[in-house]
Amino acid sequence: MASESWKVPTPVKELAALVEEPPSRFVQREEDRPGSLMLAADMPDPLPIVDLDKLSTADEAAKLRSALQTWGLFLATIHGIDASLMEDLMKASREFFNQPLQERQKYSNLREGSRFQLEGYGSDPVIAQDHIHDWSDHLQLKVEPEDERNLDQWPNHPESFRDLLHEYATKTKAIMEKILRAMAKILELDEEDFINQICGRPQAYARFNYYPPCPRPELVLSIKAHSDAPLLTVLLVDPEVGGLQVQRDNKWFNVPSIPHTLVINLGDSFEVMNNGIFKSPVHRVVTNAEKERISLAMTYTVERDSVLEPAAGLLDEKRPAR
Ligand code: OGA
Ligand code: NI
Repeated sequence: MASESWKVPTPVKELAALVEEPPSRFVQREEDRPGSLMLAADMPDPLPIVDLDKLSTADEAAKLRSALQTWGLFLATIHGIDASLMEDLMKASREFFNQPLQERQKYSNLREGSRFQLEGYGSDPVIAQDHIHDWSDHLQLKVEPEDERNLDQWPNHPESFRDLLHEYATKTKAIMEKILRAMAKILELDEEDFINQICGRPQAYARFNYYPPCPRPELVLSIKAHSDAPLLTVLLVDPEVGGLQVQRDNKWFNVPSIPHTLVINLGDSFEVMNNGIFKSPVHRVVTNAEKERISLAMTYTVERDSVLEPAAGLLDEKRPAR
């Protein structure tokens, strides 16, 4: 039988320590490389920083609307999460990723050595031999509904990890609901419309991303261009190392990393629910030659197999469902 070892990639952290040149499976096609066609620029007008505590005011709601129409993404401040909780959780995840491989692999996302599952530590599934790999490892855990958590997949080192993630997830769920209500209001719907559509049982995953330094940032991407499939992502980024870029009008723009400020982006599912008025942004992560980077994406989505449709209040003869 032909070797299928390509299906089981070495964690990028281990690889980065071994190689001077990234193996060819990481090299992006010319047109997808970070610097080739479209050099990333800083935002033409600064990305709005939305004060979540003031969302009920007309000014803040207008800011949110404009951010979602132009970028599909915004920065959120006064979000109700203590700076110390954000820092402690980042520190705990860094500690998890910096353990010896043997410890990390206790939480592997591979079953029987090669079958990928959604939860656990590792890389994304490798579906084909010519798959271009991202320069990142991750740990993905189901956090909602709370009674569906698989706590045996949650690291028990560092000891604080589980409690910190639990506390953080409680806060981000409230943030997600607050934003869904604000968006419904902006679109002149009933405030509860979007919340009702997710039926009180949103599904959420925490995806901790680990990006080791990469010797050839001009050829490799940490996460290739994509949009998020879920409704909404609440992203905690490394305050010291940037890398997230968002696309608009076929150009790439750097998303600033501001300490204790969350990045919120919409996903494809929500684009369906709002009938395409707000976009699910295409984004990617570039690598850094010197420094490792960590991020935590909390993604919220609807229950499996539920049917998504545009909110009825957004449709009429002039505005059919797209
Ligand atoms: C993702 C993602 C961005 C980042 O996990 O889907 O886009 O900054 N992450 O790590
Ligand atoms: Ni993403």
